[in-house]
Amino acid sequence: MSSMPMLSVQQLCMRFGGLKALSNVTMDVRRGEFVGIIGPNGAGKTTLFHAISGILVPTSGTVRVDGKEMQGKAPHAFCRAGVARTFQTPRIFGDMTVRDNVRFANTFGSPEKDASLVAQVIEETQITGLAAERAGDLPPARQRQLEIAMALATTPRLLLLDEVAAGLTETEVEDVARLIAALRDRYGLTVVWIEHAVGTLMRTVDRVVVLNFGELVADGPPSQVAADPRVINAYLGDEVME
Ligand SMILES: Nc1ncnc2c1ncn2[C@@H]1O[C@H](COP(=O)(O)OP(=O)(O)OP(=O)(O)O)[C@@H](O)[C@H]1O
Ligand SMILES: [Mg+2]
Repeated sequence: MSSMPMLSVQQLCMRFGGLKALSNVTMDVRRGEFVGIIGPNGAGKTTLFHAISGILVPTSGTVRVDGKEMQGKAPHAFCRAGVARTFQTPRIFGDMTVRDNVRFANTFGSPEKDASLVAQVIEETQITGLAAERAGDLPPARQRQLEIAMALATTPRLLLLDEVAAGLTETEVEDVARLIAALRDRYGLTVVWIEHAVGTLMRTVDRVVVLNFGELVADGPPSQVAADPRVINAYLGDEVME
């Protein structure tokens, strides 16, 4: 059924002892949609990704991928369901070459190795010239591109990006935003992107979700969310929104 959301999160809660990292978070992401997630440090953004990619078992609530209940399943099950993600701290194998990192990710994503897909995602993330380099030697922006290549090598339909532009220069952040948008079109992906670079994110995505203290406090088009007094109070403060 094509009207079924790619991702549906209902009443999701995650407790760490007495801390409620996520409180009744409910959101849908439609097929092909590009959604941004913003919120202050500790708001629960990464915890949400962990719960929708099998890293964490949520305390309660449901996670559906393409209609299928997935909460509490292991990362490989989410991967098989078409979910790929990057991590806030890059998880690459520094001693392996760029190409071998992507090959490894491709093997994780499907039992059949696909050499042409590996070459293709390396090309499309613009790291072809670096394929034989040791991954650990790449500058931060290139490591982020490698991470995206690794995620794509698992043939995802839903791509989750956790601060893939963190630590990059302003120009590099813009380049990453353009790259993500191009890849989304190229592969027909549904994308959810967590980022603190609010200006770039708001210009790039279709919709923005705001988390604050584990609660979803806003969800809508960028122009609407940027003008929401609760969002300005919770997060944007005196920052001027362009
Ligand atoms: N494994 C854990 N055990 C205990 N507390 C945790 C754990 N993981 C996260 N937390 C806490 O849950 C809250 C949400 O953390 P989370 O990493 O999801 O925030 P975030 O929105 O991604 O923040 P940032 O923008 O800094 O990455 C924080 O208070 C954090 O300290
Ligand atoms: Mg985080």
